[in-house]
Amino acid sequence: MINANEQRVCPVENAGSLDNVFRKWLQNPEKILRPYIQPGMSVMDFGCGPGFFTMEMAQMVGEGGKVFAVDLQEGMLQKLKEKIRLTELENRIQPHQCKESGIGVSESLDFVLAFYVVHEVPDQEAFFHELKSIVQPGGKVLVAEPPFHVSKKVFHKCLQKARKAGFNVEKGPSVVLSKTALLSTDQYACSKKEKQDNSSNQSIIYHESAVQYESDMKKNFIINMNKCVV
Ligand SMILES: C[S@@+](CC[C@H](N)C(=O)[O-])C[C@H]1O[C@@H](n2cnc3c(N)ncnc32)[C@H](O)[C@@H]1O
Repeated sequence: MINANEQRVCPVENAGSLDNVFRKWLQNPEKILRPYIQPGMSVMDFGCGPGFFTMEMAQMVGEGGKVFAVDLQEGMLQKLKEKIRLTELENRIQPHQCKESGIGVSESLDFVLAFYVVHEVPDQEAFFHELKSIVQPGGKVLVAEPPFHVSKKVFHKCLQKARKAGFNVEKGPSVVLSKTALLSTDQYACSKKEKQDNSSNQSIIYHESAVQYESDMKKNFIINMNKCVV
């Protein structure tokens, strides 16, 4: 498959090389993702391929969590669907075929993995903007790119696009055969939401982040008060 930039997209016939025991030994999904995923989270494996990382992500979020497994190619998603069919992970993983022009997931996410995929995305600026709109304040995105396909200069340019979209960019974890970066959004970033006020039938705009901030402050206050009483 060739994308809008006339670049080759990883073919479905290569799925086997992405999903095998040898790779697990080099790039252990549990070890790589452990610092970022907690039970109950909503996460996304963008460009999931046959689901090498998706399966572990579903184990990590547990019964109360959700994994959006997003890929451009139905053939890749088919491989994943075959693996999870009739297993307990089927309820936690939502496969989604996206378009080149957009991800098309509107859920608010705690964490996104974009492993070996961003260099295949034709409009990275639009991609990071859309990602920014679905990652929760305080959420994180782990980007990993293959070192031979993606030069230092190209990776740097890609991260500049992420910054432009409003992400904080820092050095990612050390992963074999990868260039990595960790993107994050500010915990109390201004995310405005419109809400219907039923009493006055008016639409009011409130700052979701301000509500979150107030709630965090209340929690800290109660914890500190309890410490004083004890
Ligand atoms: C090299 S594979 C990596 C798969 C997986 N992340 C892994 O590490 O095993 C790249 C995957 O990204 C998908 N892909 C390419 N362009 C995409 C796009 N614009 N949106 C979503 N997925 C895309 C391909 O179909 C392919 O499954």
